[in-house]
Amino acid sequence: MEEYIELAVEMIKKGFDERKIKARLPRENADEIIEIARARIRAKDKFSRRDLWMDLEGLRYATHEAVAEYRAKRVKPESIADVSCGIGIQLIFFAKYAEEAYAIDIDERKLFYAMKNAEKYGVKEKIKFIHGDSLSEEVIKQVNADVIFSDPARPPEMPERRLEDLLPSPLEIYEAYKHKTDAFIFDLPPQIRREKVPWKGEFEYIDLYGQLNRLTFYFEPLAKAERSAVLLPKGVRLESNPDLENIIEWSEPKEYLYEIPQSIDYADLINELFHTVKGKLYMLLREKRRVLATSDDEIKSEYFKRAYVITGIVKFHPLRINEFLRREGFGRATLRISIPDSEYWRFRRKVENNLKGERRAYIFQYKDKAIIAEPI
Ligand SMILES: C[S@@+](CC[C@H](N)C(=O)[O-])C[C@H]1O[C@@H](n2cnc3c(N)ncnc32)[C@H](O)[C@@H]1O
Repeated sequence: MEEYIELAVEMIKKGFDERKIKARLPRENADEIIEIARARIRAKDKFSRRDLWMDLEGLRYATHEAVAEYRAKRVKPESIADVSCGIGIQLIFFAKYAEEAYAIDIDERKLFYAMKNAEKYGVKEKIKFIHGDSLSEEVIKQVNADVIFSDPARPPEMPERRLEDLLPSPLEIYEAYKHKTDAFIFDLPPQIRREKVPWKGEFEYIDLYGQLNRLTFYFEPLAKAERSAVLLPKGVRLESNPDLENIIEWSEPKEYLYEIPQSIDYADLINELFHTVKGKLYMLLREKRRVLATSDDEIKSEYFKRAYVITGIVKFHPLRINEFLRREGFGRATLRISIPDSEYWRFRRKVENNLKGERRAYIFQYKDKAIIAEPI
């Protein structure tokens, strides 16, 4: 089947239509082959390997390899069971550092893909594959692991914010396996309110390439802090420290602008961040999608998402912004503002009208003003 998947990948890339592709594939599994091929193309840089087995749903839910590797290195368990392993990416990375591992999934096809993928990464021999409901007696009795991990499915129609909506529910997994271990790790929706989690442990928010990617909850025996933020692929980490004095002050825009990663905001670690940097930072803006700090001085920190120097502040109006950009010789603009999609392009066209050159400006909205900044 491997050669057929590769053939389908090539044909899709060359733009053949589905009928022509199917004609070259075995009829009984042509649809599956095409779906795997599509998933491989779509996966692009999510994994270091291009030959993995997955359907499109498996790909969407799969842990990014950078995240899987980071968490595996952090935990390094002797034995671990992934009780909702999907196509197996997280589990494979745990298995890399473990003596033995269990892969469990209720979906037989996903488990089959996990097995194929474990083979590709060279860890199949360490893993016991179990097809079944991880909440069933039948499955529970076969598992004997130091750590229980679950990255549950989130049904799309659910608001994604309650533990009981996840499949399998972490509440039920805990009840089912607590007689075996006290070390659990759960992937949770990052928007979940921490008060809803009834256990003691660490909430770790992970940013990947500047976007919030995961919230992992580690039970007490595996916890290192109450809350933490990790920026990948850089690999830097910030932990909560309840003993720090609150030094957060707000200010109007100063000379420099700093974008604070969402993971640091979600983990409520802005005060911790302000303590780590050398220089005086002030909070400028805290929105759902954007958190900005400002300063009189240029501050370097591995925790910033991006740093800018402010070149001007004008009224927040596309024509005023455009005038400023033309006068200052900017050729392009990137909008870092929250406006409805329907207005975005009209606004952007006006802002970029008749600009010339390579210099790029970043535009932020602050109250009724536009802050125009350049990255440093
Ligand atoms: C989000 S995916 C896991 C993705 C995985 N971490 C990866 O890296 O590929 C969740 C998986 O949980 C499985 N699942 C849902 N309910 C389950 C149950 N009761 N027992 C076992 N697996 C279950 C689904 O079939 C799905 O494959």
